[in-house]
Amino acid sequence: MTTAAPAPKAGLEGVVAGDTAICNVEQDALIYRGYEIHDLAENATFEEVAYLLLEGEKPTAEQLRFFKDELIANRALPPAVIDYLKTVGPMVAQGAAVPMDIVRTAVSLLGNLDMESQAITPEANLRKAKRLTAKIPTIIGHMQNVIDGKPIVAPDTGGDANLGHAANLLYLMSGQRPDKEAEKVVDVSLTLYAEHDYNASTFTGRVIAGTLSDMHGAVTGAIAALKGPLHGGANEAAMDMLREIMADLNGNIDPGAVRDWMHKAFDEKRKLMGFGHRVYKNGDHRAPILHALGRAAAKKRGAEFVKWFELGEIVQKIMLDEKNIHPNVDFPCGMTYYALGIPVPQYTPIFVAARITGWAAHIMEQHANNRLIRPRANYVGPDLRKWNA
Ligand code: SDX
Repeated sequence: MTTAAPAPKAGLEGVVAGDTAICNVEQDALIYRGYEIHDLAENATFEEVAYLLLEGEKPTAEQLRFFKDELIANRALPPAVIDYLKTVGPMVAQGAAVPMDIVRTAVSLLGNLDMESQAITPEANLRKAKRLTAKIPTIIGHMQNVIDGKPIVAPDTGGDANLGHAANLLYLMSGQRPDKEAEKVVDVSLTLYAEHDYNASTFTGRVIAGTLSDMHGAVTGAIAALKGPLHGGANEAAMDMLREIMADLNGNIDPGAVRDWMHKAFDEKRKLMGFGHRVYKNGDHRAPILHALGRAAAKKRGAEFVKWFELGEIVQKIMLDEKNIHPNVDFPCGMTYYALGIPVPQYTPIFVAARITGWAAHIMEQHANNRLIRPRANYVGPDLRKWNA
């Protein structure tokens, strides 16, 4: 009747669920296809990292030029997706829709409009991955324009062909071409967010791909998984939490008052958003990189933005001293994007704009060497009983 199975690990903690050649997440290093994250953040652009993840190798100058041209050529959205964004954008103000759900549905709709949607050959998958990488910033930008009640920026082209991926994202959202510093900060944040082995959303994408389902479907599922505040949604939740602390303390960020606030949160067993990680126990390699860049950008923008970092640093110190828990990448991301004036509900969609490259690489890797992912469950329900007892 019963099949003996090993006791399950809650949340599959520590379980190695498969091989990957894309990324290695270790306590002492984060590596994309052999390149360490500090090296990439310092020396590569997001477009180069995207190429590395999708194609498997660092691009030559010519390959990079061609790849960037492909992205630019694919930025514009089909009219049906723009119509959808115009319809649903106003629902955000009414609380019926949130940007992450809009990105999810827009990606699904893009699949319905893609003539290659059902093809899962390596070549078709790669073309679709590039189209999605190109179009997701346009979805975010046009959506924000509708939310702001402003005309859609560059609906025919999806942006300014003279701008790189990160700068164009900021331009699409605001209609303003960003300065070099804002471009660099967002570019690095995209690199840091691009890939992280078998995290929950990537694993979701691989499970979907493992049934031989298609790229758009797998990415749609991955977006739904990323949305939750225990995963990618934490960058918005972290900033919301800092705003809550700042409001509760009337802007007086005295460390003693912050400690009192946090002790109350600990007593209430609240999770502090942007802290902790399933894998990293001594800190997330990405967090200090983004913290330093974000803080420098905040300093240039004025004391009112630095104040968020000062509060964040007090919160970090208390978490480390009292709980031995480090911030993850989502904690500095919140403060950083805030300093750049990015609307909080777009933080997780921007995570999508980066992670699409990692997801697509994993979906392609799954399709290239596939076996259905179907684990067992440990049954803990009622003993056998008779319907007509
Ligand atoms: C991302 O997996 C990835 O790689 C994800 C990611 C990626 O790039 O793809 O890195 C991106 O998702 C980052 C994580 C974003 N989430 C958050 O910031 C939400 C807050 N964090 C936590 O809920 C938590 O730390 C998780 C979800 C990130 C990890 O959860 P685990 O591994 O299941 O750990 P746990 O919840 O079982 O916590 C273990 C202990 C508990 O205490 P005890 O019950 O053992 O006494 O640590 C405590 C927890 O209460 N703890 C926290 C905490 N995180 C852990 N306590 C308060 N606040 C926290 N944030």
